[in-house]
Amino acid sequence: MFGVGNKILGLDIGSSIIKWIVYSEDKNMPLVYNWGFEKTPYGAVKNGRIFERQILLTKLKEIIVNNGIKVNKASITLSCPEMIIRTVTIPKLKQREIQNVVRFEAEQFIPGNSDEYIIDYKIYGETKENQNDLLKTLIVALPSGIVQNYIELLEDLSIKPLAVDFNGNSACRFLNLFLKNIRDKDYVLIDMGASNTIITIAERGVPVLTRLVQIGSEEMVRTVANSFNLNLEDGEKYIKTHGRVFLDNEQPEDKILWEMMTSIMPTVELLLKDIFQSLEFYKSMTKKSIDTTLMIGGGSYLKNIDKYVAQQLSMNILPLKGIFPLKMKKEMQADIVSLFCNVLGLAFREGE
Ligand SMILES: Nc1ncnc2c1ncn2[C@@H]1O[C@H](COP(=O)(O)OP(=O)(O)OP(=O)(O)O)[C@@H](O)[C@H]1O
Ligand SMILES: [Mg+2]
Repeated sequence: MFGVGNKILGLDIGSSIIKWIVYSEDKNMPLVYNWGFEKTPYGAVKNGRIFERQILLTKLKEIIVNNGIKVNKASITLSCPEMIIRTVTIPKLKQREIQNVVRFEAEQFIPGNSDEYIIDYKIYGETKENQNDLLKTLIVALPSGIVQNYIELLEDLSIKPLAVDFNGNSACRFLNLFLKNIRDKDYVLIDMGASNTIITIAERGVPVLTRLVQIGSEEMVRTVANSFNLNLEDGEKYIKTHGRVFLDNEQPEDKILWEMMTSIMPTVELLLKDIFQSLEFYKSMTKKSIDTTLMIGGGSYLKNIDKYVAQQLSMNILPLKGIFPLKMKKEMQADIVSLFCNVLGLAFREGE
């Protein structure tokens, strides 16, 4: 009763914002005791890599102390440009044999030494080919150096690492439970963070294709700050209050809006091109197309960005509204959920 119990700290340490939850696992419905977010110390993390370990450690200690967090286990969701995700079909084998086949498959697509990667897999379906039963398998390879850095970070906090997940996968797990009918859908999830955007194509909730592109909202902050002669901090404030994307049929009404359009749209167009390419690649591989999109992450707060992406790709937007699949001791406002999809996904174990 007085111990740490089974409480777990869930962390999503973005380059701009640290999102955290304290939760306990439960087969029926996980319970979130507390949650919060804090600015990541500038330059401490970029593209999933920890650059300023001591500074980040101090920040995490501060979060733990200030919020009275008492845990001895933590799970982390992360992403980095070096992570590789592939889907393959493998023969239906015994568990131990599967591991060997997965390792062999992963070695085919890992550049360089596969010993430098942590490889994991998930079976997400079955199929038949020439009378043979095959398993549809998702393989994920994360550079072990990056994962090790997070594990050491937790060890420095005297917290045991419980699980490491990747952004996109964790968000889909939460969204599949949160959004009614999404399990029946194939959708493209666009998680626009500060330094990068993760494009995930999910087939009936399973992320079968994930791509990280190094385009994020901080690029828009930079161009807006430049155009309006502001420093980066004020540029960020300005974009949050006045920033917007212009739809095809819209024309900026004055010079300020014109400035806004010309400073924001090039980044949006670049991102759109990458999303389009991912969708085309998926289509060429599967002969299937996707007609539903969903945007999350801090960049998705930019006014009209989701509408513009949907308009340009002729897709429907799935609104982020549903019945919360977690019990929350502290209510989470609806407009914040989009930032927390990845970290909330940690509360559900794989396969639930
Ligand atoms: N209304 C808005 N318009 C544009 N950008 C916004 C808005 N609100 C928040 N942002 C941006 O969202 C970013 C934070 O989003 P998020 O927490 O998803 O990023 P992150 O996870 O820290 O980054 P990354 O995943 O790239 O490492 C900040 O850079 C902030 O400027
Ligand atoms: Mg992020």
